[in-house]
Amino acid sequence: MRYYIITGTSRGIGEDLAKAAASDGNGTMLFCISRGGSEEVSKFVGNSGAVVNDIRFDLSKTAEIDDLVDRIFRGIDAAHCEELVLINNAGVLEPVGPAGYNSTAAVEHHMRVNLLAPMRLTSLCIAAAARAAISGRKLALQIISGAAHRPYQGWSAYCAGKAGLAMFARTVALEQKEEAYPFLSLAVAPGIIDTRMQEVVRRSDPQQFPDRDAFVRYHEDGKLDDPHETASWLMKIINDTSLESGSIIDLREYRKGEIHG
Ligand SMILES: NC(=O)c1ccc[n+]([C@@H]2O[C@H](COP(=O)([O-])OP(=O)(O)OC[C@H]3O[C@@H](n4cnc5c(N)ncnc54)[C@H](OP(=O)(O)O)[C@@H]3O)[C@@H](O)[C@H]2O)c1
Repeated sequence: MRYYIITGTSRGIGEDLAKAAASDGNGTMLFCISRGGSEEVSKFVGNSGAVVNDIRFDLSKTAEIDDLVDRIFRGIDAAHCEELVLINNAGVLEPVGPAGYNSTAAVEHHMRVNLLAPMRLTSLCIAAAARAAISGRKLALQIISGAAHRPYQGWSAYCAGKAGLAMFARTVALEQKEEAYPFLSLAVAPGIIDTRMQEVVRRSDPQQFPDRDAFVRYHEDGKLDDPHETASWLMKIINDTSLESGSIIDLREYRKGEIHG
């Protein structure tokens, strides 16, 4: 059995990732996590022969993530688990605006969803897989952003959270190298994708986010990538056994063939 745990599957990249993962059909089980859920994913997965567990969960409730992972692992048949893939895709952009004006509550919510939840999901999956002695291939994929490496005025929480997640992925890779049945750990910046998050970017107040017009132009010039295509490329990364654990991948470079293991 192949198991996928994917966050943020109600729309955007995550919704297409769930459909791409399900297209393997029989022998695939998905745990799809979001607050809103997606009827499209449930219908698509149902027709594909894969099994979907639609989990409505607010990832900002980080104290409840231990129970969530326990619940998920009760549904995993460890003895027949050939592959276990965790994709931490859920994310938010807000708060947008200069750091000095962001509220503590807004920054805390952001960090819970974008940094703490993926860290805890990864850590708890590593621990649960070790307890269950899952010897099949295991991968934790963090969806980061170019903003992990490049600062944007008005995106201090987003940049800091994604940079933190990239370093978390690298650290986990280092630790897992010592394990008998290690988890592979990767982080991918997907590019600029035509999703609701980009609508939020374009709706930003330019006083709060001075680079807004550049993103409006990318959209007008048709430079945004399609989420479906992005999900297919992410699946190629997931299945690419030549990639070294700890790699931080720019999907646009990977697509051009500029990254080889
Ligand atoms: N789009 C881009 O250009 C771009 C570029 C670089 C990186 N990324 C990254 O790619 C990932 C996906 O982004 P996207 O563009 O597909 O965004 P999106 O269309 O806004 O979708 C975000 C997903 O995250 C989920 N989510 C948000 N808050 C949540 C919470 N508290 N609990 C559970 N789920 C939550 C949403 O589900 P619910 O609202 O139903 O909970 C939704 O499914 C994000 O990590 C983003 O930072 C995107």
